[in-house]
Amino acid sequence: MILNTELEYKGNLFPSKITNYEKNLNVLSFTADNGVVLEITVRRDSILRFRYTTTGIFENDFSYAITKYASRGYNHLEVKEEADTYVITTSKLICKVAKADMRISLYDAVDNTLICEDELGFHWEESYQFGGNVVKMSKTAQPGESYYGLGDKPVDNNLKGKRFENWVTDSYAYGRETDPIYKAIPFYTALHNKKSYGIFFDNSFRSYFDFCHERRNITSFWAHGGEMNYYFIYGPQMSEVVANYTDLTGKPHEMPALWALGYHQCKWSYYPESKVKEITSKFRELQIPCDAIYLDIDYMEGFRCFTWSKKHFPDPKRMVKELADDGFKTIVIIDPGIKIDMDYSVFKEGLEKDYFCKRADGPYMKGKVWPGECYFPDFTNPEVRDWWSDLFKELIEDIGVKGVWNDMNEPAVMDVPGKSFPDDVRHNYDGNHCSHRKAHNVYGMQMARATYQGLKKFSYPKRPFVITRAAYSGTQRYTSSWTGDNVATWDHLNIANLQAQRMSMSGFSFIGSDIGGFAEQPNGELYARWIQLGIFHPFCRTHSSGDHGDQEPWAFGDTITNVVRKFIELRYQLLPYLYTAFWRNVSDGIPILKSLVLYDQEDPQTHYRNDEFIFGEKILVCPVNGPNQKGRRMYFPIGRWYNFWTDEIVEGGQETWVDADLDSMPIFVSEGAIIPKYPVQQYVGEKTIEELTLDVYYKLGKETSQVYEDANDGYDYIKGRYSLRDFKLTGKEDELIIQQFKTGKYITTYKTFKISLHGLPFDIKKIEVDNVEIPLQKLISNGNNILILDKEFTELHIMA
Ligand code: GLC
Repeated sequence: MILNTELEYKGNLFPSKITNYEKNLNVLSFTADNGVVLEITVRRDSILRFRYTTTGIFENDFSYAITKYASRGYNHLEVKEEADTYVITTSKLICKVAKADMRISLYDAVDNTLICEDELGFHWEESYQFGGNVVKMSKTAQPGESYYGLGDKPVDNNLKGKRFENWVTDSYAYGRETDPIYKAIPFYTALHNKKSYGIFFDNSFRSYFDFCHERRNITSFWAHGGEMNYYFIYGPQMSEVVANYTDLTGKPHEMPALWALGYHQCKWSYYPESKVKEITSKFRELQIPCDAIYLDIDYMEGFRCFTWSKKHFPDPKRMVKELADDGFKTIVIIDPGIKIDMDYSVFKEGLEKDYFCKRADGPYMKGKVWPGECYFPDFTNPEVRDWWSDLFKELIEDIGVKGVWNDMNEPAVMDVPGKSFPDDVRHNYDGNHCSHRKAHNVYGMQMARATYQGLKKFSYPKRPFVITRAAYSGTQRYTSSWTGDNVATWDHLNIANLQAQRMSMSGFSFIGSDIGGFAEQPNGELYARWIQLGIFHPFCRTHSSGDHGDQEPWAFGDTITNVVRKFIELRYQLLPYLYTAFWRNVSDGIPILKSLVLYDQEDPQTHYRNDEFIFGEKILVCPVNGPNQKGRRMYFPIGRWYNFWTDEIVEGGQETWVDADLDSMPIFVSEGAIIPKYPVQQYVGEKTIEELTLDVYYKLGKETSQVYEDANDGYDYIKGRYSLRDFKLTGKEDELIIQQFKTGKYITTYKTFKISLHGLPFDIKKIEVDNVEIPLQKLISNGNNILILDKEFTELHIMA
């Protein structure tokens, strides 16, 4: 905690000189004269874990963040003792440990450049109030170093010069710079000299990060308890850092069902049943695609979770079925607060089984939420999570609900300072009993995990769908998320853009905002511009608090309705493209949205960009973020970009003006890309896909693109029943070659591709498919050249 440099030295304790070193396979342990032990674990060539204890004894090694599926293993490990240091070398990193004071410096093993070095390094202050230590780490910022990540912080992409706190907090109508808010993801990536590394401080206590705010050249992080326990993750590519962090804390356990990537409509609250039906019918009547409809807290009987209001929803099973027949999946909210009511079975059972959280001295943790006074299950107890997961049986298996929305799981408590549990509340923490100080940041995560467990069980053989508001590192394994209670302002459109990029960069890709804003009401223009942004967010849902008027696509007049329809239709066309990006996230931890800095860290112009981002691998998007605009200036990353609407080419590496009236927005496709598209559907599965459109964007040179497909739901894809098409495009001055390599056992419903050629610089004279010439009459021209081809082709040759 750097509050004052002088004090820093006064109040703090430091490791003294190293007197003992031991190596146990990949675990290196250094003991200092004053009892401090540093344990360095080589997890991978590019990932080192640093753990310190000041008592000589480590806590039980337990983390909710780290997944058991994380990759391990390294190619090379060598430890040398030199005069002043121990030198640990892997194939990617060199780590030096100073004998005098345990300070660490890390170098790129390939070119020996300095990547990251301790300033004061590990130090601590005894916590006389609670016991244990306040654990601290400070590092010297390298010249020109920038910082990114940290979850949902509502600030510009580059975090340099700022300080943050990690303590998940219910933050109704938060604003730019509000800190902390709903999520605690103590992971950042840093970039300097074109090299990137990441630090994941896996400590669930209240923690802080200071990026050259207190002192200009110092970056530090500290926590109010627990261990100094962090992972150093080396790139040098930022995309590798993020992928490795995601590998460590977990990729989503399964692909989302394709419908979950459709458009979702929500409000606090749609009720009674007739209102819900009115909304869903209107979508179909106006032909605006929509896959999911949400029931907020008013569907329950007095806000009791797992109950239905008899008055407003007399026959939920019938209703859910009728909605399903019309293509709508019903998603219901479930909060953690269980109403104190002896006539309510969930409460009675929780009480009998002793599943509710208790205060330090024994009484229950009682707090007010929507239902009034509540007790709260201790989701950090595995037995409680099992119980909770079973509570979903009726909702999912019997009634047919398709998804569950976990809210208020910070946990939010009303009318108390701190808006959450007091510090003394006790938690099981999977057998590592502790106070709320340690469990607070993971409470919501464990609730979402328990919910996920239930949905996974009872939705089987379909895939589960969960949304959470609170999250800690690793929550992406179980659930999607949204950015909480934002506001209907233009700046909140920007904030949503930043938060979605930042979450993606923090290993959590399945994210979206309340489109249009939760609090207050947008005008039509703001709503339309927000929809344009929202269709490029992995989770795409309109939600609003309802007390400020209507927020459905048709609530702002015909002009806006038409814009909204056009963009939601575009989302549905791009579903195979988005699904492929999801597959890359689920299989390799590649983020779905890429801030420009993550896309091209070599280009210094990207280091401070906020608005533009890459959607998937090939599409560059930039929302129009102010009123009355007919376009905007934006930066184009290096490369060549096709205007999605006009096919005009823009040279990258410059900022330039782009026209975008209200019915348009800046969307660009990187040259050489092959973009798959489905026809517009009103909901996923409405139509059998008869043909896959492939938009091919000519490039002089080579490019690869992928299309991943499977049954859109279920688990067969895990057994190899998927279809992965790798396309290799080679463009020459008078030739275009597309090769297809197909893997996987899934057979797509369509038989043909509709190949649409963009930007071809020559007139076509000859076409060969798998070395057989086909008549030119097969070419259809509508501005672009269009060709219908059998989906099994392996090589297409187009010649001048
Ligand atoms: C919280 C949620 C919001 C929800 C409301 C009522 O404010 O963030 O999305 O509509 O509670 O359940």
